[in-house]
Amino acid sequence: MSSSFEFTSENQDRFSQILSRYPYKRAAMLPTLHLAHQQNGYISPEVEQYVAGLLEVSLVDVREILTFYTLFFQRPMGRHHIRLCKSISCWIRKADRIEEYLVERLGVASGEITKNGNFSWEAVPDCLGACELAPMMQLDKDYHGPLTPDKVDQILEVVSDSDSKV
Ligand code: FES
Repeated sequence: MSSSFEFTSENQDRFSQILSRYPYKRAAMLPTLHLAHQQNGYISPEVEQYVAGLLEVSLVDVREILTFYTLFFQRPMGRHHIRLCKSISCWIRKADRIEEYLVERLGVASGEITKNGNFSWEAVPDCLGACELAPMMQLDKDYHGPLTPDKVDQILEVVSDSDSKV
């Protein structure tokens, strides 16, 4: 079956480099998915199929990895994605207040994308492993906390400013 997704020529080179580090193709599943995720913004069924073909594994093998690792989006998200921790330490330190503020500030509910496509966010029940920052959130790859509504504003403004300079 044909797939409508394929790596850019730059990413094909990166994929070749990834493959060269592993003894067999299947072992390169995670970095290959990360590369595809980076290029496409999420793992669509077409991407799943493409990766399965590249690595000569079944779609079920790819889906097993996708359902285990929650960092892979399986639908489009904002250009920047926020994960607000709602686990115990963050909850005790008023993550609820930050959650309410994100709804107000971004104007969308958890799991949705802002109108301009810049941000999406979600409240996550699992500890993100940075309790010392509670209440905290992950914005793309970076952790931020302890959060207050003002601090959330500052963080979002810095990201928006850097986007406008691109
Ligand atoms: S409870 Fe939020 S980072 Fe651990």
